Amino acid sequence: MTPYSDYIKSVIRTVRDWPQPGVNFRDITPLMQQKAAFRKLIDSFVHRYQEVQIDAIAAIDARGFIVGAPLAYELGASFVPVRKKGKLPFKTLSETYKLEYGEATVELHADAFNPGNRILVIDDLIATGGTMLAAANLIKRLGGEVVECAAIIDLPELGGSAAIEHAGFSVFSVCEFS
Ligand code: PRP
Ligand code: ADE
Repeated sequence: MTPYSDYIKSVIRTVRDWPQPGVNFRDITPLMQQKAAFRKLIDSFVHRYQEVQIDAIAAIDARGFIVGAPLAYELGASFVPVRKKGKLPFKTLSETYKLEYGEATVELHADAFNPGNRILVIDDLIATGGTMLAAANLIKRLGGEVVECAAIIDLPELGGSAAIEHAGFSVFSVCEFS
């Protein structure tokens, strides 16, 4: 939680039954569209991390890029994309994880940062936690130290943030939806 959590949560739109029946899709586009809200969102992350040593922001493809890039700029950190399979051109490390149906793979460039660098992993949302945990594992495999796994939104009932914490990573979210 942050001083602006309730405000930020209030401008996230819920689209019922999208992309399939039973899913409440938490749509961040109104949050990006309302410039005061977007600024408060980035400021919330800046406030949390400005006194922390962070060498790079590892942001997750694609919605994580929206917050990761301005945050890297504000913190004076570098920006590292964690991308979906097949998008990065150089030598990569990859991590495959389970989805509700099937599996997915995220990738990181092998020269994305130096061993021992302190990395903040960021995405828009934690649901089952599979994507964020795969990204954090990639950072560790490359010798990075995961400072925290951060998101705008956590869906705690899906157990993702608990699973990420269980794996030994710290988790922060600006707001939660149940
Ligand atoms: C969404 C979201 C997270 C992930 C969360 O990404 O942006 O990355 O799912 O789900 P999980 O916690 O169950 O892994 P999506 O794959 O829809 O990609 P997008 O950002 O390209 O829309
Ligand atoms: N990604 C996974 N679950 C989601 C949800 N409920 N809303 C938005 N993005 C998601």
